[in-house]
Amino acid sequence: MHLDIRSPDWWKSAVVYQVYPRSFADSDGDGVGDIPGITSRLDHLAQLGVDVLWLSPVYASPMDDNGYDISDYQDIDPLFGSLADLDALVAGLHERGIRLVMDLVVNHTSDEHPWFVESRDPQSPRRDWYWWRPARDGHQPGTAGAEPTNWESAFSGSAWEYDERSGEYYLHLFSRKQPDLNWENPVVRDAVHTMMRWWVDRGVDGFRMDVINLISKPARLVDGVPPPGRRLTPAFHPVANGPRLHEFLREMNERVGLSERHLLTVGEMPGSSVALARDVTDPARRELDMVFTFEHVQLDEEPGLGKWALRPLALPVLKANLDLWQRGLEETGWNSLYWDNHDQPRAVSRFGDDSPAHRVASAKTLATVLHLHKGTPYVYQGEELGMTNADFTDIGPYRDIESLGFHGDATSLGTAPDTVLAALAAKSRDNARTPMQWDDSEHAGFTAGEPWLPVNPNKDVINAAAAVADPDSVFHHYRRLIRLRRDEPVVVHGRFELLLPEHDQLWAFTRTHGDDVLLVLANCSSLPAYVDPVDVPDRGGAKILISTHVEGDPDRLRPWESKVYRLTGA
Ligand code: GLC
Repeated sequence: MHLDIRSPDWWKSAVVYQVYPRSFADSDGDGVGDIPGITSRLDHLAQLGVDVLWLSPVYASPMDDNGYDISDYQDIDPLFGSLADLDALVAGLHERGIRLVMDLVVNHTSDEHPWFVESRDPQSPRRDWYWWRPARDGHQPGTAGAEPTNWESAFSGSAWEYDERSGEYYLHLFSRKQPDLNWENPVVRDAVHTMMRWWVDRGVDGFRMDVINLISKPARLVDGVPPPGRRLTPAFHPVANGPRLHEFLREMNERVGLSERHLLTVGEMPGSSVALARDVTDPARRELDMVFTFEHVQLDEEPGLGKWALRPLALPVLKANLDLWQRGLEETGWNSLYWDNHDQPRAVSRFGDDSPAHRVASAKTLATVLHLHKGTPYVYQGEELGMTNADFTDIGPYRDIESLGFHGDATSLGTAPDTVLAALAAKSRDNARTPMQWDDSEHAGFTAGEPWLPVNPNKDVINAAAAVADPDSVFHHYRRLIRLRRDEPVVVHGRFELLLPEHDQLWAFTRTHGDDVLLVLANCSSLPAYVDPVDVPDRGGAKILISTHVEGDPDRLRPWESKVYRLTGA
């Protein structure tokens, strides 16, 4: 691959691999993953065949939210290494034809960032770089209910923190240690653009933009009115998707030269609709290439009650949501495709069946379904091994700030401990953050020290060494899917059409590009499924491009069996 020859939309045919540095590979035995650790494992990525590495934050940080609280955008935290280590990583990636996308966390900084430290002084020219507000009219500052608005932070408690020095409050949509930057101030925007250009000049190939739809806030900050029982968390209260979002994104694109330099941009946008995503990713508007929707990862929660209120998810509901996004962005814009990331539970445990009988087939079938949709697929570290949820049975091992906040709130409100632990086991972000399972040695080859989060004991069976050695593994299935995308334009460009939308076991669809037609048939259940031939296009003489099982009856799919047929064309 030639990195210097890139077409404006090269990312449409790319597959992105996400690394959460803390949990990927530890080179120095302190129990925390680091950049040299990642560099030492690049052959794993090259063998898998991915085109892009998205690196979760490695910048200087007090680590209140594992690096999503940044105190210096232009330095690397010593926990992860140095700028020289980052340069070596970029070189190692580029040698292998892999591009690097950095996490860009600019809705907020750390409260230890010098900008915020200065801003605490009411006389400072940086005061207006953050959202400082007086107490609510008629309230004594610092007393209960005196917060400027009723907004809640994503991680528990009010989104406002009282600062005694000035008697004012600052806004933090996430933790107290993550104050929101004031994007209304053009000097703030300029500082962000300058920092981004510095990274581009250093050789990075794009940005994954953290909660980017929160950067524009309404001019007047007013109370939200939650529907009954609903929490006013940032994705929903009146602060998301503000009036200047498009303007800020366009300006950033232009000032940093994002489109001009053909960089990959993906915006994390909780609470965004298909319509908003279509506008943001319309190439003519020059904002972003694609966004991460949250809709499909919120279908297994009680509407409005937040991620911890579990409810069962029926297949037709999941299919309908992906179909909505496929149709919504068919003519204009582009989808990103993901099951997993560092904030979500493991896909095979959540949407598949992680029991020994079905783990491998369900991980493969979930991958087939996702990678055959139209859009850019994202693979989260360990997903290519079929890694499972952590299975923690008490609060002891949890480290995630969001999980601990929920545990504290729910137990103080009297929720039964078993209910709280069950919600955490299903949804905690720590499910995704247990160390990468490289081999079956004591700490799974992740570290020579004591890992910061326990290794899943199933590393004896589920690990990269075993998967690479087994041609039938989940790993090789991902490798084949990634290769298929590279070889087959229909996988990248084909129009998507959902079949059998109401079927509660089968996920069936076609992709059509000119006269090339693919048919995907997937049994997304742990029971056999009957395919009625009258319901699907004729498969007589069709070639199978990829499948989870060998041979078998084409009309009776085994549990989690899936096949991709080429019906016509080349
Ligand atoms: C995004 C990140 C998440 C982080 C939050 C605040 O949602 O993915 O990990 O906690 O933003 O930065």
